[in-house]
Amino acid sequence: MENVIKNFFVADHERIDALLDVATADAENIDMDLYHQFRVGILTHIKMEEKILFPAAQYANGGVPLPLAAELRLEHGAITSLMVPPPTPDLIKVLKYVLHLHDDKEERRGGMYDKCAELTESETESLLRQLQQTTPVPVHPHNLQDYALDVAKRALTRAGYDYDAIAAQ
Ligand SMILES: [Fe+2]
Ligand SMILES: [Fe+2]
Repeated sequence: MENVIKNFFVADHERIDALLDVATADAENIDMDLYHQFRVGILTHIKMEEKILFPAAQYANGGVPLPLAAELRLEHGAITSLMVPPPTPDLIKVLKYVLHLHDDKEERRGGMYDKCAELTESETESLLRQLQQTTPVPVHPHNLQDYALDVAKRALTRAGYDYDAIAAQ
């Protein structure tokens, strides 16, 4: 059977990735209008997962969080914190590294999207409607203080990633 929910999220990953790729095609000269659209896209995507999809799957799972949920939530926190400081070539490198691994945990066969879609099979239509009606997350201007990057680095550490090591690769 066609996996409507998974297809919806995979298509959104592709749309958001494309925005990021075009915005950062020249890492030294980031297109800030497109990068803003990317930030709205990724934060709204995370909102759809955290506020609609994962809770619906947890409810259908008898209230028990899915095994991957905690790990993905930490990564959402790390990705969100990377949206706060202004983008640099290092930040973009780390962001793409984490996003690639994160999206794979959700998209791969038997991954989070397959599990969520399976558990919520009886409510696909209403879930899809809720997802399509999600309002875009309001995005704040970048925080130019140095501590914003430190906060992001600590959020990455909590999610199991070493910002400086990835940037130095
Ligand atoms: Fe996610
Ligand atoms: Fe996702």
